[in-house]
Formats: sequence, C-alpha cells, structure tokens
Amino acid sequence: MTEPSPKVSAETGRDLRLAIGVFDSGVGGLSVLRVLRQHLPHATLLYVADSGHAPYGEKSEAFITGRSLAIADFLLSQGAELLVVACNTATATSVQALRQRHPHLPIVGIEPGVKPAVAASVARKVGVLATPGTLGSERFAQLIEQHAGDAQILPQPCPGLAKAIETGRLDTPALRELIAGFCQPLKQAGVDTVVLGCTHYPFVAPLIAQAMGPGVQLIDTSDAVARQTVRLARRALSSAERLEGEPSAGRTRLWTSGDVAALRHFCTPWMADAATVEALPELNPVN
Ligand code: DGL
Repeated sequence: MTEPSPKVSAETGRDLRLAIGVFDSGVGGLSVLRVLRQHLPHATLLYVADSGHAPYGEKSEAFITGRSLAIADFLLSQGAELLVVACNTATATSVQALRQRHPHLPIVGIEPGVKPAVAASVARKVGVLATPGTLGSERFAQLIEQHAGDAQILPQPCPGLAKAIETGRLDTPALRELIAGFCQPLKQAGVDTVVLGCTHYPFVAPLIAQAMGPGVQLIDTSDAVARQTVRLARRALSSAERLEGEPSAGRTRLWTSGDVAALRHFCTPWMADAATVEALPELNPVN
C-alpha cells in the first residue's frame, strides 16, 4: 500500500488532551487523521468514514449536508469537543450549516490549497484536482477570486477517482490510466504546481506525481489543517485540561458506514496506535 507522505511541520499539540471528531465521505480523511495524530499524540481521535455513501463529490448538496450534520451529531454523542471536516466536498457544501447548528463548537474545515499553490508556482499556472462538487461550489469560486492573483488556475474535476481509492487498491493499471487522463490537460497546459483538492488523493500522490512528470510540485493541506486544529484546541481548552507529566498515547476510534474489514485493512499499514474499527450505527437524518 502506498503511504501518504505529507510534509509535517514542527508545531505540535503535545500538551493537549481532548477528543477530536473527524469525518470524511470515506477513507480520504485518514490522510488528515494521520497528520493530526502526529501533532496531537495524546488526543482521542474519533473518525467516521461514510464509505457506505461515498463518493460525496457526485451527490447533491442537500444529501451531503444531511449526512454531515448527522455524523457531527454522532461524533458529539461520542464525546467530541472539536470537529474536523476532513473532506473538501463536505466543507464546501456543509461547513456553514455545521457552524449554524453548533455555534459554540470549534470546527476546522479543509479547502483546496490554492493560496500556497499560487505562492509556489513559478510558471504562474496551477492545476487543481478535486471532485466535481468541490470545483462547482461557491466556496471554490471565492477561493479563486481571493487567491489566484496573476496565476492561471486550471480546475480539473476527477469523477470516479475517490471511488477508485475507496477500493484500497492504490496501484492498478486502471487507476494509473484514470489518473493519467485527469493529469494530461494540466500537463499540456504547463502547470508546475498541482493542488490535491480532495483528501483521498494523497493516497495516490506518487501516481499523480508520475503522471505529471518531473518538476511538478503537489500541494496537500493536511498539515495546515492539523496546525489550525491545534490552535483552536488551545483556545478551547482551559489550562486545567492541559497535560502535566507524560501520559499514555491517545486512542483512535474509527467507525464506518461501509465495510469494517476494508477500513481496518486500509489503515493497518500506517496507523501506529491501536485503533478500534466499528460499524457506524444507522444515523437519523437531520434537516
Ligand atoms: N475526500 C473527499 C474530499 O476531500 C470527498 C471524496 C468524495 O467522496 O467524492 O473532497
């Protein structure tokens, strides 16, 4: 299995112990969870993979928002004190509804890294690989307006890619072909920086890098999300809840609306701490 290999900054929340709820349409958010664990070694991490309803990127906004609200309620019922929406599509469609429903809950979303990509691009041409849902959203249009500057942004929808990654087979000829097809227009346009605008894509970063060819930089925002999570956690916690002394490692609990064995298999190669994987109970729809 190919491991995600994001750059991780030095900033950590070693002294913070709290329960953090994290969710994605499926396994993609595990690329964020892994970095969160590096920053917050003593936090309890609660993760929902909504694999039974993936991919979100090709579903209606109403459906994604309904699932996001129901999953957030579930994570809160399990003790989450802070929420990380580890899904670009769910952030684009539902983060506002989540904040409205939980005005006092610290919530961290994830967005395609257009800003760092524009800063890094020498050619002034940036490709953005993401789901059709993310690229068609108002938030994405705003992101471009705010951060594109003089750079040309080439959005490339990747229908079917998150679904293929959900299978856990991360290096097959069919997957290489699918990725090559999405990268071809970006390559032809001469982009030198490519944003991984879906949390599933870091799991196939080596294949994307190969399809784009040498000299192209890939931008993954997991580390920025983890740093923002540490900042919000620090603000939210009173000093009484901070750690004194050296405690045991934080627990990780995972739930999936898909196949439990498949999720366990997906994260076993790189999830260092003992994690439990359970079936997600049926969730009541939230309006
Ligand atoms: N991992 C998700 C994202 O970051 C969504 C993939 C999907 O379910 O379409 O956008």
